[in-house]
Amino acid sequence: MRLSVIGCGYVGLVTGACLAEAGHDVMCTDIDAGRIAQLKAGQVPIYEHHLDKILVSAGKSGKISYTVDPGEAIRFGDTIFICVGTPPRPDGSADLSAIDHVAQQIAAEARSPKLVVEKSTVPARTGIELQRALSAYSRGNGGFRVASNPEFLREGTAVEDFFHPDRIVVGVEDPAAAEQLREIYRPILERKFTCPVHQGKCPDNYKGEFLVTTISSAELIKHASNSFLALKISYANAVSDLCEKLGANVEEVTHAMGLDPRIGTQFLKAGLGFGGFCFPKDIQAFISLAATVGVDFEILKAAERVNKQRIDRFLEKISKALWVVKGKRVAILGLAFKANTDDIRFAPALEVMKRLLDEGAEVHACDPEAVGKAKKQFPQAHYHEDPYKTLEGAHAALICTEWDVYKKIDWQRAGSVMARKLVVDGRNLYSPAKMKELGFEYSSFGRE
Ligand code: UGA
Repeated sequence: MRLSVIGCGYVGLVTGACLAEAGHDVMCTDIDAGRIAQLKAGQVPIYEHHLDKILVSAGKSGKISYTVDPGEAIRFGDTIFICVGTPPRPDGSADLSAIDHVAQQIAAEARSPKLVVEKSTVPARTGIELQRALSAYSRGNGGFRVASNPEFLREGTAVEDFFHPDRIVVGVEDPAAAEQLREIYRPILERKFTCPVHQGKCPDNYKGEFLVTTISSAELIKHASNSFLALKISYANAVSDLCEKLGANVEEVTHAMGLDPRIGTQFLKAGLGFGGFCFPKDIQAFISLAATVGVDFEILKAAERVNKQRIDRFLEKISKALWVVKGKRVAILGLAFKANTDDIRFAPALEVMKRLLDEGAEVHACDPEAVGKAKKQFPQAHYHEDPYKTLEGAHAALICTEWDVYKKIDWQRAGSVMARKLVVDGRNLYSPAKMKELGFEYSSFGRE
């Protein structure tokens, strides 16, 4: 099938590349001409595991192409996936101006009927507004149909998630749109593609469900899912605060809680809290959407508050240990908002860095992927590739992202180059007993 993808960010690129790899003909466009030039030159503008591989293979087979001309892209596909950004406005609500802009382009450039699919995360009722906008901008002549197909991709495992989804949700107004989307996803549902993650040997336990809902339900499913996960993390963090006060161990508590299948073990990890471009903005947008219809989403406001307090708690631990922060050399291990990505948007590590720089600390930092981006934002910090170099002469090691390489740090070696054997662990990566055995002052979350 011929598909158009508008917006080549994380969502658009992964969607376009995976659908091309699944056998469709895909044309991608982006308002950023530099990004399109990079893609045409075979460069991948973002770091996402396996994405480079499938972009090369889809490029070679001619299944994916790129254009700076939105009209060309719009006319190419029978189905158009809108994957543009919906950043937060100052009041927390989602800024939908990019979607509106694309609607105007589609209405102006399309020459045949199109199924317009919103993949960007949007508040409920956006689909209805989009349908109205397309009809108004085309003066009722476009023959456009609208659908919502939210993505549930996690950064770092987005390609794996795309090929092995738990669910594919399509919000539609007519059965034909559902059928068109089912056809698009048929290779994924029937596993008729060469999986770039497992090289054709995918485990059997993936059972993706294709769910057809109303457009508003589909939009709501996305926000409700992300907000629930954020809520779960904040719950674990609130329990962690309690554990610290009562002398309990949060890991023992959350592990046992999670064995109840109604609760589950995932997203109960206490620490520095959630960041990234999804949870913080989606939770805000959901609160704001609820407020517009007179629903006070108190529980989500509390989750947001608990998450913000994580940074304060972390800095309290640092100050308590260091006594005076000004002039101290601190080593931040991990800058990305989570492991296996170079994304630093709303990363807790960056807020930690900012506050320590403001207090006059000498900040040294490393990250396997995110140094380049962090350097642009905070050029006054010192960056290294090697964690041991970062730790040299440090009065404290601060663990901010749960990268595997940091889980495997040889603390005996690190301790020998640090000015003081102090670790403040924002991701609970190490055993407190072992760190003490190695002669470290060690503090983490919920298990003092
Ligand atoms: C999240 C959702 O998991 C995806 O399903 C969704 O598609 C995506 O947002 C989106 O809306 O596009 P992502 O932002 O990539 O994916 O990150 P997650 O893996 O969900 O982690 C979010 C944050 O929570 C990270 O900062 C992570 O460190 C933190 N976290 C996660 C915890 O603090 N504790 C946990 O137990 C789990």
